[in-house]
Amino acid sequence: MIKRKNILKISIDSPAAAGAGTQAKLIGKHYNLLVLDTGRCYRYVANIKITEPEKFNYKYIKKKIDKLKMKDLQNKKLSSDKVATVASIIAKDKEIRKLVHGFQLKCAYNPPKKYNGSCLDGRDIGSVVVKNADIKFYITANVKVRAMRRYKELKAKNKKINYKEVLKSIKKRDKSDKNRKISPLKKTKEMYFINSTSSSISSCFMKIKKIIDKEINN
Ligand code: C5P
Repeated sequence: MIKRKNILKISIDSPAAAGAGTQAKLIGKHYNLLVLDTGRCYRYVANIKITEPEKFNYKYIKKKIDKLKMKDLQNKKLSSDKVATVASIIAKDKEIRKLVHGFQLKCAYNPPKKYNGSCLDGRDIGSVVVKNADIKFYITANVKVRAMRRYKELKAKNKKINYKEVLKSIKKRDKSDKNRKISPLKKTKEMYFINSTSSSISSCFMKIKKIIDKEINN
C-alpha cells in the first residue's frame, strides 16, 4: 500500500449520533484533510444486503469495494435507520471488516495530494484501522441526547420515524458495537475524551481545535 509521508492523520471514534461526523467535517475543512465517515462503508455493504440479497457474498462485496468511490457513499439511501441496523449486524463479520478496512486504509494513508492528510471517524479507527494516527479523539454523549439528535435529523427527511424507536435502535447498536468480539468500540488511553452532551457543535469544535493546534505545535 502506498503511504504518503508527513501527512496529518486524525482519528475519531464514537458511538452512534455523538456528533463525530459533524466534527470530522469541521476538522477536515479547517485543516484541509480528506474526511471519511467509515460507518458509510458498512452502510454501503448493508445496502447491498438489502437490495441485492441474492448477490451478497464476499466475492461480490470485494468487487464492489474495489470500485468504491467517495460519491457512492453519499447515496441518501444509506442514511436510513434500517440500513444502520443492518450495518451493525454485517459489521460483526471479520471478512467484511477486512474488505472495508482496505478502502479505509487507502483514504487514511494515501489521500489525494491536494489534502494535508486525513480524518476518519468510526468505531475502530484509533484502535485498529489507523493505530498510528497523530491525534485520536473519542467523542460521546448521553444516549437520550444522541437519540434526539438522530431523531431530528431523520425526521427532517422522513416523517414516519418516532423518537422511541430511534432511542431503542441506538441502544441496540451501542450494545452490539461495544460488545462484539472483533473491533469493538472502545476508548483507548491515548484518545482525547470529548463529551458533547451539553456542548454546541461550535464549542465542541473549539475544544478539538485547541487540542489539535497544541499537538501540531509540539
Ligand atoms: O457511524 P454509523 O452509524 O454510520 O455506523 C453504522 C454501523 O457501522 C455502526 O453501528 C457499526 O456497527 C458499524 N461501524 C463499524 N466500524 C466503524 C464504523 C461503523 O463497525 N469504523
